[in-house]
Amino acid sequence: MAVEWARVVEGTETRADDGIYGALRCVIETDDGVLLAAVLKRDSPEIVFAEALCSILLSKWGLTVPQPFLVRESGQISFASADVGYPNLKKRVGLGPEFEQTVDQSAALHLAATLVASFPTTPLAAAIDEAIDNRDRNLGNVLWDGREEAWIDHALALGNGLHMPDTNKLCMLMTMVGKAGEALHAAISRWTAMNRSVVAAAAGEIATVYDATHWQQLITERLDDLGTRITNRFPKPNDLLADLP
Ligand SMILES: Nc1ncnc2c1ncn2[C@@H]1O[C@H](COP(=O)(O)OP(=O)(O)OP(=O)(O)O)[C@@H](O)[C@H]1O
Ligand SMILES: [Mg+2]
Repeated sequence: MAVEWARVVEGTETRADDGIYGALRCVIETDDGVLLAAVLKRDSPEIVFAEALCSILLSKWGLTVPQPFLVRESGQISFASADVGYPNLKKRVGLGPEFEQTVDQSAALHLAATLVASFPTTPLAAAIDEAIDNRDRNLGNVLWDGREEAWIDHALALGNGLHMPDTNKLCMLMTMVGKAGEALHAAISRWTAMNRSVVAAAAGEIATVYDATHWQQLITERLDDLGTRITNRFPKPNDLLADLP
């Protein structure tokens, strides 16, 4: 999947009442003249191009991502993705302040973790999050239509999230539901199968508007020792014994 160019159709932006704060729903028109519903995110170039590069990378590595767009606006380029029309996992299971009165939050969290751990693509997504240093894979950043999952929001990857705790949330969720062992093996095996040449190819796709050489280097370096990085995200046998009397 390549990134496409588009523009916002004037007057179509809405702050939908669905918990989206930074992002806006709107209609965009692609350079090919196609109109479609999209989620638009205006931000600094580091954020906009991190989103674009990561969408291309995830797609090339085999995950489903909504079609990414670079949007020409006066004086800046923004990021948009095709609105897939289904909710994120937080909404799907009823997690968040707006559900507190009606939904048991710890049961909802356990359900969401169980769902994430059951997706066939989660070990690959965990390995990729480790490669791109994505610390923000919260349950609002996984979309699920009841059958297939789509991965969004890489704004805080590639060094943009250094202010956040250095965690891999997918590894934490899989561990939470007792799947650490199989998740570790699956993530390591996905890592060994990841084609490294896509990193340069993805950077090349945005090269006319953003020099992503430093991100290319960061990802390549992390890929070198990704096995160790992934292993360290899961409890060690010693950790498991630590609580025993
Ligand atoms: N392509 C898409 N299709 C459908 N829904 C989307 C798409 N992109 C984003 N959303 C919805 O918008 C929400 C916010 O988008 P995103 O996570 O990318 O931005 P954010 O920076 O976390 O914004 P916010 O602070 O508004 O949550 C997502 O949790 C999801 O519900
Ligand atoms: Mg988000």
